[in-house]
Amino acid sequence: MHGRANLAGPEGPWTSIWGYDGTVPGPILRIQQGRPVRIAVENGLDEDTTVHWHGIRLLNAMDGVPGLTQPPIKPGESFVYEFTPPDAGTFWYHPHAGSLVQMGRGLAGPLIVEEAEPVAVDRDLLWMLQDWRLSGDKQIAGGFGSTMDAAMSGRVGNEVTINGSAPTNQPVRAGERVRLRLVNASLARIMALRFEGHRPVIVAIDGQPCDPHEPEDGRLVLAPAMRIDVAIDMQGDPGSRHDVMDDVYDGLAYPLTTLAYDRAPPLRANPLDAPLALPRNPLPEPDRARTIRWEIVLQGGMTGGGKLAGVGGMMGMGMPGMNGGAAWAINGMSMTGDGHAGMAPQFALERGATCHLIIRNETAWWHPMHVHGFSLSVLSRNGAPVPHRQWQDTVLLAPKDIVECAFVADNPGDWMLHCHVIDHQMAGLMTVFRVT
Ligand code: C2O
Ligand code: CU
Ligand code: CU
Repeated sequence: MHGRANLAGPEGPWTSIWGYDGTVPGPILRIQQGRPVRIAVENGLDEDTTVHWHGIRLLNAMDGVPGLTQPPIKPGESFVYEFTPPDAGTFWYHPHAGSLVQMGRGLAGPLIVEEAEPVAVDRDLLWMLQDWRLSGDKQIAGGFGSTMDAAMSGRVGNEVTINGSAPTNQPVRAGERVRLRLVNASLARIMALRFEGHRPVIVAIDGQPCDPHEPEDGRLVLAPAMRIDVAIDMQGDPGSRHDVMDDVYDGLAYPLTTLAYDRAPPLRANPLDAPLALPRNPLPEPDRARTIRWEIVLQGGMTGGGKLAGVGGMMGMGMPGMNGGAAWAINGMSMTGDGHAGMAPQFALERGATCHLIIRNETAWWHPMHVHGFSLSVLSRNGAPVPHRQWQDTVLLAPKDIVECAFVADNPGDWMLHCHVIDHQMAGLMTVFRVT
C-alpha cells in the first residue's frame, strides 16, 4: 500500500504516498449496476484501516465504518466487501479509519457503476481531483490535525492534481460530446470550476441523475466528497485552447487545466442529437404521509475573534484536532474520530419511514454534510425550493445555511452522518442515526 506518485509535475521530485495498489488515485473500479461484486482488501499499512464505498446504498455490514459496521482490518489482515450496487453513477472509495492521515497521504479511488445500457457520448472521462499539502521538497507535509485546521477550514493544501498528477493539457476533439465525471476527493478544498468558452450541462450529482441543467453562473461547485457528471459538447475551434478555472476562493482563482483542441476537423457539424438525461436510479420516493422531521444543528468552530464557539459543554476535552479534542458539535454532541463501537445513535427511524431532515449551519464555516447509506432528495435551501430533482449524499452548507431534504429509511443499521471536511469530522462534526 505504500508507493510513489508524480504529484508535483514532470519536473518535480516523486512524492511518497499511501495508495490502493500503491497508486494515487487507487485503481478505477468499474462495476455494473445491479450485479454483485466482491472486493478483497488486504491491509498493507502499519495501522488499522477499513474501506468505505462512498455514496453506494449497500448493506450496513459493508459500509466500512470501524467499530460501527465492522471491526477494523488489522495490519496484515484482509476483509472481503460484497455488495450489489443499486444505482449507476460516479462514486468513490476511501478509508474510514485514521481518515485524516490515510486519506491525506493518498488513499482514495474512483468507483464507477455503469448503466445497464451505455449512454450516448463520444467519450467517458474521469477527473479525480485531489488537493495536497506538500512541503518544500514535495513530500506530503506532516502536522495533520492541527488546531487551526480542525477549528477553521480544514487542511487545505497547495497542490491540486487530476487523476494523481499535476494537470497538463486535456486533449479534446472539436464536435465531440464528453461525459466528464468530476470527483472531489480532497480533504478540505472546495472547488468551483468554470470551463471558459464552454457550457457544461450537469446530468448527475453525487452519482444520481438530475434534470439536465447548466450551473448557476457557469460554475460547478464541488465540495469535498461531491461528484458532478457533466455533458460537454466541445464547440471550440480546432487547435484552440480554453482554460478551466477554479475560482471558489475570492481573489485566488487559478487555472486548473486547459482544454486543448486537436487540429482535426470537427467530428460532426452540429452537436450530437441525443438526449442528455441519464436513466433514473431506483430511489424510493419520500412519502409525505409517513414523515418524521429531524433537525441537525451544526455548531462550533473558530469565531471571528479567534475563539471557539461553544460546543455544548464538550470543551473540557483539550485542544481540538489532535487526541480526539472537539471543536464542533451536532445538536450539542461531539463525536470525534472515524466511528466508534457502542456510540448511541442520536435519532432512530423506523424502517420504511420518510425522514424530513433539516440541517442548520450555525457556524461561520462551510460544511459538506454527508450521509452514509442513503441519497437525500434535496428540497430547499434557505426556504427556496431546489430545482432539477437533485439527490445528493453530500450537501454543502454555506455559513448560516438551512437545507431541507428527505429520504426513505429503507435500509436498516447504524449509519454515519458527518462533515466531509475530514478535520471537521475528526474534531466532532459527526453523528450516528439508526434505522430499525
Ligand atoms: Cu466519504 Cu463517512 O464518508
Ligand atoms: Cu460515505
Ligand atoms: Cu465541516
